[in-house]
Amino acid sequence: MAAAANNADASAKKKAAKLALIFLGPPGAGKGTQAERISRELGLPHLSTGDMLRDAVTRGTELGLLAKPIMGRGELVPDEIVLGMVEERLKRPDCTSGFIFDGFPRTIPQAKKLDEILQRRGFGTALVIEFMVSPETLLRRVAGRWTCSVGGETYNIYDRAPKVAGICDNDGGKLVQRSDDRPEIVKERFAAYQAQTLPLADYYRAHGTLKTVDGGAAVNDVTRALNEILQQAAGSDGHL
Ligand code: AP5
Repeated sequence: MAAAANNADASAKKKAAKLALIFLGPPGAGKGTQAERISRELGLPHLSTGDMLRDAVTRGTELGLLAKPIMGRGELVPDEIVLGMVEERLKRPDCTSGFIFDGFPRTIPQAKKLDEILQRRGFGTALVIEFMVSPETLLRRVAGRWTCSVGGETYNIYDRAPKVAGICDNDGGKLVQRSDDRPEIVKERFAAYQAQTLPLADYYRAHGTLKTVDGGAAVNDVTRALNEILQQAAGSDGHL
């Protein structure tokens, strides 16, 4: 009887639990690759502010026109623009029980505003996972990245090449390189990360739940490490 009550309690807790997951790491750390996988596993939306901004640029919206030159220089788009975009996205019903942020927050003001939003929406403390990767590996990953222009699948000519060069294995879409993956722009993106985003690790160490993974490991090993962290989090406070 008591066991049944406990099970019912655990099940209710599981249903009620909400998960705000943040992948933190420099350009090329593998945030997008892993967010895609974990999103499928958990059934939670993958929210990439980089993808949202690129989509706005492609569609030529007001936001896209504003963001395009900033992204082209490898700098960060102003906080108020990104925050407005994120708040709008979080209103959609698929975000009710949780989401995975990839590339957001990226500044202390963004993190503080996100804390407010999470509190208002009944989420607990965000679970933040920092991807640790050596600078050499990051450069190789960014230089070798090709992305499907149709479905968005990401490849790497050094470590994860498509079966046919320039063509997506999944849908036959043309593979393209990001314009901000040019070496001179990548340098600016790394500099922006060091100056504006890296301080978030200390912020979340003090205010949230910060975990780290070896992002330099093979893709499947990183996914396994992330799943272990998620299972531990579920065990300790019923997040999942
Ligand atoms: P964004 O799109 O977020 O780019 P980023 O943070 O620089 O990250 P990347 O997409 O380069 O890397 P990733 O960690 O996702 O790695 P990936 O999985 O692709 O931002 C772009 C721009 O938008 C910014 O510069 C800024 O202007 C603006 N912006 C976005 N968000 C903003 C915000 N919040 N505030 C202000 N401005 C914002 O992997 C990289 C490559 O490595 C791929 O080829 C992949 O196949 C390969 N790979 C991945 N994992 C592995 C592995 N384990 N082993 C081997 N290869 C791997």
